[in-house]
Amino acid sequence: MRTVETVSLHLDPAAVAAAKHATAAPPGPRPAVDAGPWQAADTACEQLDAPLAVLDLQNLSRNAGALLRRASGTPIRVASKSVRSRAVLRAVLAQDGFSGILAYTLPEALWLAEEFDDVLLGYPSTDAAAVRTLAADDQLRSRVTLMIDSVEHLTWLESVLDATPHSTSEIPVRLAMELDVSWQPRVGQQTLAHIGVRRSPVRTPKDAVQLARNIAGRTRNGKPRFVLVGMMAYEAQIAGLADRPLNMARGAAISAIQRRSKADVTARRQAVVAALREVTPLEFINGGGTGSLEFTHSDSSVTELAAGSGLFGPTVFDFYSHFRPAPAIGFALPVVRRPAADTVTVLGGGWIASGPPGTDRSPTPVYPAGLSLIPTEGAGEVQTPLVGDAAKTLSIGSKVWFRHAKSGEVCEHVNDLVVLSGAEVLGSVPTYRGEGKAFI
Ligand SMILES: Cc1ncc(COP(=O)(O)O)c(C=O)c1O
Repeated sequence: MRTVETVSLHLDPAAVAAAKHATAAPPGPRPAVDAGPWQAADTACEQLDAPLAVLDLQNLSRNAGALLRRASGTPIRVASKSVRSRAVLRAVLAQDGFSGILAYTLPEALWLAEEFDDVLLGYPSTDAAAVRTLAADDQLRSRVTLMIDSVEHLTWLESVLDATPHSTSEIPVRLAMELDVSWQPRVGQQTLAHIGVRRSPVRTPKDAVQLARNIAGRTRNGKPRFVLVGMMAYEAQIAGLADRPLNMARGAAISAIQRRSKADVTARRQAVVAALREVTPLEFINGGGTGSLEFTHSDSSVTELAAGSGLFGPTVFDFYSHFRPAPAIGFALPVVRRPAADTVTVLGGGWIASGPPGTDRSPTPVYPAGLSLIPTEGAGEVQTPLVGDAAKTLSIGSKVWFRHAKSGEVCEHVNDLVVLSGAEVLGSVPTYRGEGKAFI
């Protein structure tokens, strides 16, 4: 296999600026796949063996610019789970308007903090060894913020710190609190539904203030052990639910839910932030995700947004009504068999997105056009059959190109991303996996 030289990645400033200043227009109906870029990728990668994954620099740059436009000046913290490549994080964070990382595991956060100075861990950790590493290093203590949402977790953290022999530092461990902003419509005392994710038990100003006071009350030798520096409130039911799915009735129901839920999220987030600010100064209030930037930045209590998956433009975003990122990432699998004239089997499988199982989690074959997964096998384990007239145009060794349903998960399958600019191979950048890192 011809190898591709590792390069340092830089976004195209002109493409970022053009997308940032473009006039916002809602995307039209879901377009047919534009074969052009995939054909260009196929030509560019002719000498490279598949399986491989590509990252299109122009589309990545455009997507970064579009996120900045939609954020309207509110800084964006990059959700690393949706990227999983340090080179890409570096390139995006070099742009004004992106600031800080929202990491997904503590070992990952510690690794990233060797290079990046503001890493918020978006999810609670019970990795005692990693907490000890954090506790023993003043630079890590000042760069990494842990997420908590309960007294139980706080007590666990304190017990790990107590058992850390070298933790004599007086720099308090930085904490952020997660507020649950799922929507729970009620009639009287009865909760009718839970719409959103199930994460934090902190829902009200009272819950938040109680936890903040508990944090402040934990001292060692008269010095605060922790400092609450931020709050995060991620409205998954708005950011993460496509409002224009193929089923129109479902789309109408989701849009209605999102309208109602937005009022609740804004009111509750603002009330909790106001109550918390009475008891402690806060550096940041984080909210939102790629799917909700316009809404979240309009909440004046929010000081920063989170986004990641809009950089790569996976297929989930083909079903949103208010924005449409360009497909910046794709992968190619080689044809290895032909079980029938209209069927080919490619080597490689899985590449299924996380979340509730369904066909919308499957990868989508995009080039050559007109191939489909087979319902009985789907995206197979190590090989995947594809059916359609286009199979007749393929030979053993040809590549079939796919888009993934989600974003950073692509990087768990490959050691590097081949960086393309149209039909030109610019080089490659390592993924977390290519750097020997599997965090989750
Ligand atoms: C806490 C948090 N913030 C933001 C996001 C949005 O990330 P993205 O923009 O990559 O969809 C997520 C996604 O699950 C999340 O868990």
